Amino acid sequence: MAGKIFVCTTCNRYAHAPPGEPTPGQKLAEAMIAIEGGRRGPVAIRTVVCLNNCPKPCAAALRQPGKYVIRFSGLSAGDAPALLEIAERYAASMDGDVPLRDFPEHLRCKVSDRIPPVRGVVPPVSEHGLVHDPVPALPGFAP
Ligand code: FES
Repeated sequence: MAGKIFVCTTCNRYAHAPPGEPTPGQKLAEAMIAIEGGRRGPVAIRTVVCLNNCPKPCAAALRQPGKYVIRFSGLSAGDAPALLEIAERYAASMDGDVPLRDFPEHLRCKVSDRIPPVRGVVPPVSEHGLVHDPVPALPGFAP
C-alpha cells in the first residue's frame, strides 16, 4: 500500500494570510506538488486542515499502514525538496523507522514526532463480521 505525506494548509493558524494570499502551509504543499510535477512518486501528497502541531507551523507528516508516523514541524516551502527526498526513503523502508542520520541534515531538527506502528494487535472478528475493540473496558465504564 502506498504512503502519503500530509501537509497542513491551515498553518500558520496564528498569523492569518492576507485575503487571497496562500498560507505558508499552502505554499509548502504547492511547492511539493510543483516538484512532483505529476511524476507519481512513491508517496502521494495530500493536504489536511490540521496535524495538531499548531504552535510550531508549518507541519507535515509521513504515514503508511504498518509503518512509523513521522511528523515534522517548523517547515517552510523551502523544505519541499528535502521532504520529498525523505518521503522516498520512507516509502522504501520496511517499517518507516528511517534513521535520523539518513534524513536531509536540515530536516533532522524538524522531526517533532515518531509514532511506532501498532504491532501484533489484530481485532477479533465475530461470526457476524463485526470487529470488536481489543482493548478491554475500564472497570466502572460500560463497553
Ligand atoms: S494548523 Fe497546522 S498543525 Fe494545526
